[in-house]
Amino acid sequence: MSAFTKSFALACRRVYFRNIRQHSSVTAELMENMDKKSAWDRFYSETSSGVPHFKNFEWFFGFEAVQGFVMPLLRAPSLPHPPLRVLDMGCGTSALGPCVYRDSAVPVRVTCADISPVAVRLMRDHLQATAIQPRNASSRIEFLELDCTQLDRHYASSSLDLIVDKGTTDALLRSREGTEKAAWALRQSLRALRRSGSLLQFSDEDPDARLVWLETAALDEGLAGADVGVQEVGVLRGVCYYCYQVTPRHEVNT
Ligand SMILES: C[S@@+](CC[C@H](N)C(=O)[O-])C[C@H]1O[C@@H](n2cnc3c(N)ncnc32)[C@H](O)[C@@H]1O
Repeated sequence: MSAFTKSFALACRRVYFRNIRQHSSVTAELMENMDKKSAWDRFYSETSSGVPHFKNFEWFFGFEAVQGFVMPLLRAPSLPHPPLRVLDMGCGTSALGPCVYRDSAVPVRVTCADISPVAVRLMRDHLQATAIQPRNASSRIEFLELDCTQLDRHYASSSLDLIVDKGTTDALLRSREGTEKAAWALRQSLRALRRSGSLLQFSDEDPDARLVWLETAALDEGLAGADVGVQEVGVLRGVCYYCYQVTPRHEVNT
């Protein structure tokens, strides 16, 4: 069982202890349908129902473990520049996006986006209730219902500085019908990134598999491929997690 699946099983156990009869059917439904909005809506509805206080849920490592990969990419450009645009793609109810907004020294506009309107509403309500003060007063944060396979409907080419994906591509790749969606989301991300931008994928997938997949899936009409690097994030419950940094390659004449 991969760590991703273990995290998922633990989350489900927590939820379904409250309703044991539904456990196996809903777990099985989400396991096979992690690319489906309805499955995630059901998951976030059930994890939040009857819970008195919202608590961020992290599928694996939280902000503390990944900030060393994310924050150094938020550097102030030398010229006057609008806020750096950051997308947490498939944010769920993770604290990652709000923490980037809170801690960034340079102005950022953070968008926490998810296909599940339930997750988006929970995040929005929580932020309104807590009123986080950002380190840079010009920073902004927003929550958006968005399908990451359709980024082009929301973002122009070369408009984002950083895309963070913690577990979202994993969820797509491990779904019965999600592989093509994961490739589509990757290509859309590369198009939406600026020349200097990066996509960070946090995953427990082994580099032998993920690096080949990234390099292959990044090849498409109008894309010159991508440069891909990998670093270890750490070990959790005996499984190693990685940070894959993907930067769009640009044709010399573009
Ligand atoms: C494994 S969870 C990770 C959540 C969060 N990033 C974290 O680290 O806790 C995967 C997330 O991807 C979202 N998701 C699945 N398909 C998506 C899609 N096509 N577009 C946007 N989000 C999607 C799910 O709703 C879910 O919140």
